[in-house]
Amino acid sequence: MSIKVFGDKFLLTGRDSSYLLGINREKHLVLLHYGSLLKDEREFPSFSSRPINPMGTSLYRNNDPLAMPEKENSEFILPFSGVLSKPSLEIYRENEGSSYDFVYQGYEIKEASRFDESLPFPHGAGEELVIELTEKRINVSIYLHYLMYAENDMLCRYMEIRNDDAKELIVCRAASSSLSLQNDDYFLSSFHGAWANELHEERRKLSLGTTLLYSDSGSSSNRIAPFFSLYKDEEKGSSYGFSLLYSGSFETTIDLDISGKIRINQGISGLMFEKRLASGESFVTPLAMMSFSDKGRRGLSQNFASFTKECLLPPYHATKSRPIAYNSWESVGFKFNEHSLHSLIDKAAKLGMELFVLDDGWFGKRNDDASSLGDWSVNKKKIPHGLEGLLSYAKKKGMSFGIWMEPEMVSFDSELYKAHPDWVLKDTAGESLVGRNQYLLDLRKKEVQDYVIDNVSNILSIPGVSYLKWDYNRPFGDIPLTNGTCHYDYMRGLYRVLGEIRKRFPETLMENCASGGNRFDHGMMTYFDQSWLSDCTDSFERIRIQRGASYFFPPVVFSNHVSSKTNNQTMRLTSLENKFDVASFGVLGYELNLDDLSSLEEKTIKRQISFYKEHRDLFEFGSFYRLSRLDEDRFERWEIVNKDKAIIANFDGIIDLNGATRRLSGIGFDDDSLYEVKSRECTHSLLKFGPLVNYVSPVHLKEEGAVINALAKKKGIEGEKFERTVSGKILNGTGLPLPELWKGTGMNEGTCVLGDFGTRMYLIKPLSDPSDE
Ligand code: GLA
Repeated sequence: MSIKVFGDKFLLTGRDSSYLLGINREKHLVLLHYGSLLKDEREFPSFSSRPINPMGTSLYRNNDPLAMPEKENSEFILPFSGVLSKPSLEIYRENEGSSYDFVYQGYEIKEASRFDESLPFPHGAGEELVIELTEKRINVSIYLHYLMYAENDMLCRYMEIRNDDAKELIVCRAASSSLSLQNDDYFLSSFHGAWANELHEERRKLSLGTTLLYSDSGSSSNRIAPFFSLYKDEEKGSSYGFSLLYSGSFETTIDLDISGKIRINQGISGLMFEKRLASGESFVTPLAMMSFSDKGRRGLSQNFASFTKECLLPPYHATKSRPIAYNSWESVGFKFNEHSLHSLIDKAAKLGMELFVLDDGWFGKRNDDASSLGDWSVNKKKIPHGLEGLLSYAKKKGMSFGIWMEPEMVSFDSELYKAHPDWVLKDTAGESLVGRNQYLLDLRKKEVQDYVIDNVSNILSIPGVSYLKWDYNRPFGDIPLTNGTCHYDYMRGLYRVLGEIRKRFPETLMENCASGGNRFDHGMMTYFDQSWLSDCTDSFERIRIQRGASYFFPPVVFSNHVSSKTNNQTMRLTSLENKFDVASFGVLGYELNLDDLSSLEEKTIKRQISFYKEHRDLFEFGSFYRLSRLDEDRFERWEIVNKDKAIIANFDGIIDLNGATRRLSGIGFDDDSLYEVKSRECTHSLLKFGPLVNYVSPVHLKEEGAVINALAKKKGIEGEKFERTVSGKILNGTGLPLPELWKGTGMNEGTCVLGDFGTRMYLIKPLSDPSDE
């Protein structure tokens, strides 16, 4: 049982964490302890938050100088209540003062159930603790809901505010959670970015004053993510991780005062928020998530990854392996016809890809991004036999079929806009902000929600459409009414739409996309099976992006594509092998023009795909560990491991000629077992060697000349063979020496040719004990 009551104390117990609440003399609900596991009730008195001496400028209640709200760790903070840090709940009534005091009324432990169908909710909680607090003077109650997912050490909390008074209550801020902690010299790690440049981790010592992490763009945003952590070390010690089960505008404040008290409020954005509650009405916040680990950030990442897999992801695909997709976007964009798509399907199938995804450009009259969003019928000029014809072609070749849609949007140049100009979310009186020639549909309206549900359902009902990429390519701009709950109501509208679509099509594999990662959050992961993390497909940039995501999500939700060698976004040249090594940590796909591949590249991709298929379960469902970081060490190193095997990959930045000998080490190996370590077979392009090929060529080959170019299409040079036997003790410890790097002085079977942005992947399997055979 993860929830227990001891008189006026409530204990929520996780695998390695405890959350202890109490009712103090003022009948306030206070947090006594959140951190390492408590074993016994006799430990509780040590965690009282009541001070023993009065304090200079603090305010107090009930004429008791020790009853200082500032000193107690209340589970929510009202303004003007004697607590000086940022409030988590702001309410008022017309023409009244501000002194509200909510006191404990009672509790209930009941089966956890979704309170509001239009908000994301995790599955598998079992029970929940609901604590009721009532205002002393007016008939208003707060219900705090606590859910402990013990196996994942995840505590979820949300709040309901109910007005039973005759007079209207106005809520202008309602955080989902408000947590008090004591600082222990913590670092704050948060994630920042922009389009195609997501998930830059920012780490700094938690500083005095208030840190604000927020988005007011209508979505959880690529600018600042709603997940963050407080921690001391990557590998050990106390760490706290936080996220919001919500995908719209949000606000997190982290207050640190000089006494070391930290107060964290997580919730929906308070920007111009105003919810008026008539008598009998209530308001419910989304869920906030928090996790504690005493195993550093590694422990936290495992908690968030397992929680996402086990309790958030839609159940149908949660444990199923994902198909290897071929996506048409970076290869043909809007420029295709049935014939060219057939050719791509032929090639993708031949190379072993499993799902053909037709991205943007298949509907209305869309030949660029200026028209047709909202008109979801196939463009017969481009695809005369319709989606049905295309998917039956794919099926014949052994591939499943998926499609791109951007269901929340409407182009000005569309039949939908002509028919329903009033369905657009904008300030009709002022100048409207436009993004990518499109507007957001007003999903606050039920008829618009139903339109979207019907349109998406029409496409997903076509037999054989097994995958949907759901895109969202512009943020909110101006809104029709500034005072109120526009962003919040939009999100609830969207969640209703998504919930309905998931109910109708549980087996459709759904990928979340918002110009890449402009709405990548745990809320979305309750409706989607995987997520397109970024529009940047450069493998070197992806290292940072995937690493960033790995702090809070499991690899099975990262959809990663190998794209063309010259990258679309950065113009950086990296080999297909390097791209594969990064992209395979998660759900692999390809997004380059297959008609342009040389025969050598085809062979390379075939080999990659068969390697991925052999280890797919590991790449998608293994436990992921960050072992070193490019911005701190000379290379990035990741490990992914399950009970049978592990893969460790090294990713380099700018090559360090004649640097220290490299060693391969990881974590979690059995010290006493022997392991076989093998590098993944890879091929180097002859072009990589430039004029150096002349050292071995019988005839002179001009760099970039026609002959070498023609030759390089067919022939490559095999990467070094690396096969060793080594103990777990060495792998966990000082590491296995890796081959010498190429330095221009000679080459043999053992030379590792890496170059800038080079990568290597090593497969590690326990050697079977000869006595077992
Ligand atoms: C967004 C997505 C891309 C692609 C395009 C199509 O930018 O992130 O992957 O689907 O839209 O317009």
